[in-house]
Amino acid sequence: MSYYSKIIGTGKGLPEKIMTNKEFESFIETSDEWIRTRTGISQRHIANTEKGESTLSLARLASLNALEKAAISAQDIDLIIVGTVTPESVMPTTANSLQRDLGAVNAFSFDLQAACSGFLYGLSIADQYIRSGTIKTALVVGAETLSTLVDWQNRSTCVLFGDAAGAAILTRSEDRSHSILSTRVYSDGTRGDLLKIPHGYAACPPWRADYSPSEHKIKMQGSEIFKLAVRNMIDASMKVLEDNHLKIEEVDFFIFHQANIRIIEMCVKTLNVPANKTWLNVDKYGNTSAATLPICLDEAWRAGAIKSGDKVLMTTFGGGITWGATLIQL
Ligand code: ACO
Repeated sequence: MSYYSKIIGTGKGLPEKIMTNKEFESFIETSDEWIRTRTGISQRHIANTEKGESTLSLARLASLNALEKAAISAQDIDLIIVGTVTPESVMPTTANSLQRDLGAVNAFSFDLQAACSGFLYGLSIADQYIRSGTIKTALVVGAETLSTLVDWQNRSTCVLFGDAAGAAILTRSEDRSHSILSTRVYSDGTRGDLLKIPHGYAACPPWRADYSPSEHKIKMQGSEIFKLAVRNMIDASMKVLEDNHLKIEEVDFFIFHQANIRIIEMCVKTLNVPANKTWLNVDKYGNTSAATLPICLDEAWRAGAIKSGDKVLMTTFGGGITWGATLIQL
């Protein structure tokens, strides 16, 4: 008997506070017009840590929404994966704290670091556990508070990111026609310098004399990343289509990592995707890293833009560098 993973619920979690482009004008040399035309971003949500908003609280919100949509209880979950580069704490992992908060007493849980590809990597791992028959139900979350990792004086990066979480619940099914059809994930450490946060604990612990807080912030070579993001998301998308012997026109909907509207537009143009077959929210949220794909999936599904039986192609690209694509049939 063959097992497949069916997506039965999705959810999102956003901080309350909205920060508009205009607000940047008071502390860096930029303008609403520059940010909108170069990135497509108009605003982003920023976590208020004083009000208890954090990677964990956003992950919790997204997970509770997904549990409600899936109509299952937290005790039904066997595995929790949280894709994040901004974990609540190093230990316990965000996933372990989430397991505690949800009361998911039957789940084992871990964090996964693959930058913006964290959700897609997590999906591929959960899918393997389900297909092998090891587990029945998994919760996969992408959750970030990148506002804690941006250099607020660096105009090339601080305007790009936002805080949010997205979640999906997968469960075992014997029906391939409502499942994750295939996933491809990739990494290339030789290009890691193009988008990085240099200081972890091992490279330079914060108590060392030569520790520099600026090395704990996002550093990016924007134009190189731009080109690689387009090329790699297109390549990964073509690979999953080949794996399933499908043509672009046979796919019902496309979800691209929401980093920059111009990156998405180039992918859409190159792949020849009709505009009404994609979901865009980078204008509202900015780049929320591992959270962008599950949030788009959630919004498109709840809005009726995608429905049961639709073939949905999702693709992502992230720092380090990592990328991938998945084809699901809802
Ligand atoms: N406001 C005003 N001017 C700015 C700003 C800003 N916020 N940021 C940069 N500039 C300036 C630069 O300083 C530069 O000025 P100079 O010519 O005097 O040196 C000028 O604008 C042009 O800079 P470029 O970097 O060439 O601008 P570009 O058109 O490439 O746009 C951007 C920059 C938006 C960052 C673009 O490169 C980009 O989107 N790259 C991909 C970034 C991205 O999406 N990263 C995340 C993907 S991976 C992931 O999600 C983790």
